[in-house]
Amino acid sequence: MDRILEHFSVDMGIDLGTCNTLVSVRGQGIVLNEPSVVAVRKDTNQVLNNGQAVGWVAKEMLGKTPGSITAIRPLKDGVISDFEITEAMLSYFIRKVNGRRRSFLKPRVVISVPSGITAVEKRAVFDSAERAGARRTYLCEEPLAAAIGAGLPFTEPTASMVVDIGGGTTEVAILSLGDIAVCESLRVAGDDLDEAIINHMKKTYNLMIGEQTSERIKIEIGSAAPVGEETTLDVRGRDMISGLPRKTTVTSEEIREALQEPVTAVVDAVMRTLERAEPELAADLVDNGITLAGGGALLRGLTVVLQNATGLTVRVADDPLTCVARGTAIFLENIELLKATLDNDMEG
Ligand SMILES: Nc1ncnc2c1ncn2[C@@H]1O[C@H](COP(=O)(O)OP(=O)(O)OP(=O)(O)O)[C@@H](O)[C@H]1O
Ligand SMILES: [Mg+2]
Repeated sequence: MDRILEHFSVDMGIDLGTCNTLVSVRGQGIVLNEPSVVAVRKDTNQVLNNGQAVGWVAKEMLGKTPGSITAIRPLKDGVISDFEITEAMLSYFIRKVNGRRRSFLKPRVVISVPSGITAVEKRAVFDSAERAGARRTYLCEEPLAAAIGAGLPFTEPTASMVVDIGGGTTEVAILSLGDIAVCESLRVAGDDLDEAIINHMKKTYNLMIGEQTSERIKIEIGSAAPVGEETTLDVRGRDMISGLPRKTTVTSEEIREALQEPVTAVVDAVMRTLERAEPELAADLVDNGITLAGGGALLRGLTVVLQNATGLTVRVADDPLTCVARGTAIFLENIELLKATLDNDMEG
């Protein structure tokens, strides 16, 4: 029976991220890429529009109807911080993808989870997926999914290293023979870069800026090391003393300075992981280098900083933002094969 079902149902690989949720379907690639945001009514915590105010819809509503509506990002630091809202979000996304295929069968899903999460947190993701309508749920550790998505030879007896810098977590892992040999999950990532910029604007200019503005500053002029020409950007916010809107100009140098602390935290995690690796695995990395994935991999100059610190070759995976989602879908296709090598997957 399961065989027959498998033939007709949609199989989905889901990258349930702190910032973005992506769904990848076999043979179709990325079919959904939406912000991990849900709009709820403040007093009741009910998801608006009969559970439909999720992702882009939620983001759009928020700009237009403030007041009694609030935005919830149900994941924090890579893990679920609000179970009910996560379930509502997953269920909306799964139904959206399933509906597009006009499939009435419940799908099999693989969800990527940070390597550092506890058994209780894993159980929470697993239960949310089951209740959100999955027929069968598997969990895949994020660094493994990233390595698969980046096309690293992770099943071979040679070590490869991935650093997945998302919004909430940075996953650093050395993989070999289809498994994670050493890893560290650091709760410092893209969100912390944004926060560092917000703090800098407060301290230096008495200017309050929002999260979206600080993310824009990071993406437009942020860097980890000097690369190319230095630039400036006009930033608008609210003056902390007068309470009035104000504009100021910031330079790429000062933003780099502001980002130094979280960037150093990421570099330190990479160094620690390298130090913990067996000498044979470390030796492989001299040839194989380090591969960066996740949105944070796009920060200018990050490869340079990591290269200088480790002495290894550092490259950014193709399309780093979709790497994990693509990896989960490939994982699902090869689940029977991979299951033998994985002891940490959960099955429903
Ligand atoms: N060009 C860029 N430069 C720097 N950072 C970027 C760029 N583009 C996206 N980002 C950042 O990447 C982060 C989102 O990356 P990603 O989608 O991989 O995270 P996630 O998977 O949702 O989070 P997590 O894996 O921690 O749960 C955000 O912090 C975003 O600001
Ligand atoms: Mg991620």
